[in-house]
Amino acid sequence: MERNRWYKDMVFYQIWPRSFYDGNGDGMGDLYGVYDKLDYLQQLGIDGIWFSPLYPSPGADCGYDIADYMDIDAMYGGMEAFKKVLHGAHERGMKVLMDLVVNHTSDEHEWFQKSRQRIEPYTDYYIWRPARPDGKLPNNWDSNFEGKAWTFDEVRGEYYLHLFAKKQPDLNMDNPLVREEVKKILRFWLDMGVDGFREDVITYISKPEGLPDDRLFPIYKGMPLYNHGPHIHEYLSEFKRDVLDHYDCVTLAEAPLVWPDQALKYIDEEKGQMDMMIQFQCQCADCFFSDYMPTKFDLRKLKRAFSSWQYKLEGKAWNMLYMENHDHPRIISRYGSEKFWKESGKMLAAAYLFQKGTPFVYQGQEIGMLNWKPESPEMYEDVQTRWQYENAATNKTPEQRLQRLWRSSRDSARTPVQWSDAENAGFTTGTPWFYVNPNYPQINVAQQEQDPDSILNFYRKAIRLRKKLAVVRYGSYQEHFPLDGNIYCYSRQMPGQKLLVLCSFADHPVSLRLPKGFDAASGKLILNNYARPCRKGLRPYETRVYLWE
Ligand code: GLC
Repeated sequence: MERNRWYKDMVFYQIWPRSFYDGNGDGMGDLYGVYDKLDYLQQLGIDGIWFSPLYPSPGADCGYDIADYMDIDAMYGGMEAFKKVLHGAHERGMKVLMDLVVNHTSDEHEWFQKSRQRIEPYTDYYIWRPARPDGKLPNNWDSNFEGKAWTFDEVRGEYYLHLFAKKQPDLNMDNPLVREEVKKILRFWLDMGVDGFREDVITYISKPEGLPDDRLFPIYKGMPLYNHGPHIHEYLSEFKRDVLDHYDCVTLAEAPLVWPDQALKYIDEEKGQMDMMIQFQCQCADCFFSDYMPTKFDLRKLKRAFSSWQYKLEGKAWNMLYMENHDHPRIISRYGSEKFWKESGKMLAAAYLFQKGTPFVYQGQEIGMLNWKPESPEMYEDVQTRWQYENAATNKTPEQRLQRLWRSSRDSARTPVQWSDAENAGFTTGTPWFYVNPNYPQINVAQQEQDPDSILNFYRKAIRLRKKLAVVRYGSYQEHFPLDGNIYCYSRQMPGQKLLVLCSFADHPVSLRLPKGFDAASGKLILNNYARPCRKGLRPYETRVYLWE
């Protein structure tokens, strides 16, 4: 049966629940708050929400350490509040996606508690190994967050594998019972009416036989062995065949290290097991491999990332488009300019919202929130950031190390959404669980609602255009002047409609040329970020979108 791929016409919004909006005044973002803001999302033009984890969790990784997959944490309002939000979203024609985190659980999950005591059937739910005969760790893999990937458990007398924090033991997906548990979780939420899943580091779930040492990779040791592991497509096919195929749902695969050719093995519309992929290449234009290895921003690198995904997926698979999420610092502070805040915020929106694919907007991105820069490393909450401060770049001064975190930390994008210039940015009437970015009197939703020229209203307009113009959703993509180091220029075309997007990433004026066949005089300027565009050049961070029909 031909699937109705409804997600292709949609724009999604990611909610990181702790910091979205507090509806009950206890200082923590929650589902009452989400319910209150559904109309705000609808006015933005949002058709679906991806919720970062809402499940009960000790919070060692802000919810990505799950203690119970079939419930909603009481601090978010519990199941009743969730059902109300689900219903409210559906009433507005919005879809709801859950975050499925099954590479690992919390160490406080009942399965792990039983597994460490060897209580059946949980004994082999996780990846346990004794020390090597010479007393060394079972292998030389690194965790992504906290040093080595193995921690000794006194109760069981063995090491367990954790590719993330110590409190996130990896599940043993080779055990068919674990795969049955995953299917139960999928069915539970789909039966409730949820519309799909964003699947957390799903490319990590199949570990290689024998867990061999990594002898090649100098950093993140082990990653090339467990990423896209030997049985990954088999397990994903099983989930699809046994569960997903029986529901009208969408799946989104998070894939830390992946190129388009490899992505097609997962998301090819005929042969793949999932629908879209969250790739990291578009996040690596100012760093090498991870945000913690910063480099100078390189527009050509960004353009290559954008275009290779656009070209290679064309006609075969569908792109997921994003600029921000809860794992990366704010995009204006990275690829744009805090000095040209408004101009670059709008330009960065146009740089991705007119590409082919389904765009995701991360909370606060639509008002141009900026990186948070705390005065002290103690103020960071994130487990990865704290480890980095203690253990990386130790040859630098404390001041330099702190500044490195301003640029790299995930917490830069996790401060509460700035709703107004009221106390605590209007996020809560209580004491906020986390620091509010002190720039909230200047950057907030209420102010931008009033200002027709705001970043928020630019997002609204761009999203409206996406929905109005078929060429934005279905036209073919072409990049122009790929070697230009200042301008990103791309067009979209279909019979009868043609669109050109110009984005300057320069903080100074640059001269303007248009690709052959695109004559500005005959085109209609449908979106821009400077009042009077001049014929000769683009001003700092200027963007323009032209339409021919
Ligand atoms: C994913 C999540 C991230 C989390 C990690 C471990 O990358 O996006 O927030 O810390 O997986 O679950």
